[in-house]
Amino acid sequence: MIYLDHAATSWPKPPEVTQAMIDFLERAGGNPGRSGHRLSIEAGRIVYAAREAVAELFNVFDPLRIIFTLNATHAINLVLHGLLHSGDHVVTTSMEHNAVMRPLRALEAAGVQLTVVPCASDGTLDLGQIERAITSSTRLVIVNHASNVCGMLQPIEEVTTIARHHGARVLIDAAQTAGVIPIDLQATPLDFLAFTGHKGLYGPPGTGGLIINDQVDTHLLEPVVRGGTGSRSEFEKQPNDLPDKYESGTPNGVGLAGLGAGVRWVQARGIDAIRAHEQELAQLLNEGLRAIAGVNVHGPVEVDRSTGVVSFTVAGKRVSEVGGRLDEEFGVLCRVGLHCAPAAHRTLGTFPEGTVRFAPGVLTTREEIQTAVHAVEVIAR
Ligand code: ALA
Repeated sequence: MIYLDHAATSWPKPPEVTQAMIDFLERAGGNPGRSGHRLSIEAGRIVYAAREAVAELFNVFDPLRIIFTLNATHAINLVLHGLLHSGDHVVTTSMEHNAVMRPLRALEAAGVQLTVVPCASDGTLDLGQIERAITSSTRLVIVNHASNVCGMLQPIEEVTTIARHHGARVLIDAAQTAGVIPIDLQATPLDFLAFTGHKGLYGPPGTGGLIINDQVDTHLLEPVVRGGTGSRSEFEKQPNDLPDKYESGTPNGVGLAGLGAGVRWVQARGIDAIRAHEQELAQLLNEGLRAIAGVNVHGPVEVDRSTGVVSFTVAGKRVSEVGGRLDEEFGVLCRVGLHCAPAAHRTLGTFPEGTVRFAPGVLTTREEIQTAVHAVEVIAR
């Protein structure tokens, strides 16, 4: 089996991740931050260690500004619903996932003004258009760091500079890049970064988070969910302390144990080395697929402008047929269709059929990529 679906979720997880989750359940099964007994304290220590690992990875000074959520979608919703009010203006791009577009469309129906800046047909974002879209009421600019459909990387440093120059906040959707592309939140002073734990960070599903950068005044952001936090229990009002303000209810301790181990595993391998490996695989995929008659690759040609994700179509064949044959005849596992990102597919010209998407990971080998390209060649023939 050749697993090329890391953009959906990474697999297999490192043994360290599985072991950390087993250890949590067997040896530290208490409720973190609630009871004062040793199992609760040990669970709290493990969750805090995961917070520290994430803070270190993204160069955030205060680990308490890592807000754990279920996934990137949950983190994005936290910002959009916590920050925006009727009359506010938001700028986004035509390459976004439905994790961004669906809450934005709902907010638009409730009176938030929305500008969707169109990207080029390979996903390229025109920074001039972002700047021209910003008005005096623009409260937020939200851009994905990399497309989950074609891997196109967006210039988040420049987006941040432009937005902040005009007094707007910046939310970056790093679902596809956390653990894959280096991100330094001191060097890039964006306001909010949403990440997921189960893709490039090699943690389990059900983990993710929102990073509120060190300089952001959290009075700006209302919590979306309120409830028990284990702190300030004498008050019925939600506490303002971080991360409790945004983390009500018992957290996913076992998942966060796995996430902490995943982040440490990524750090041990080194993000620069991970990036170099995935670029090499993307180069092989791009060259191999583009050389096959009838195969059309959608997205950037230059691999330094993308993650390892490569999307393609085969002339005269349904993407479902290609995906089905890849799985059944060649053992190549990938994702086909719209990838929950219809806006991106409209931009790339692949709506409504979608594409076949290959998304390699850290442990994918050159030989596996060669086998997958050969399988596409056979199917195209
Ligand atoms: N958003 C994930 C993907 O692109 C699930 O497959």
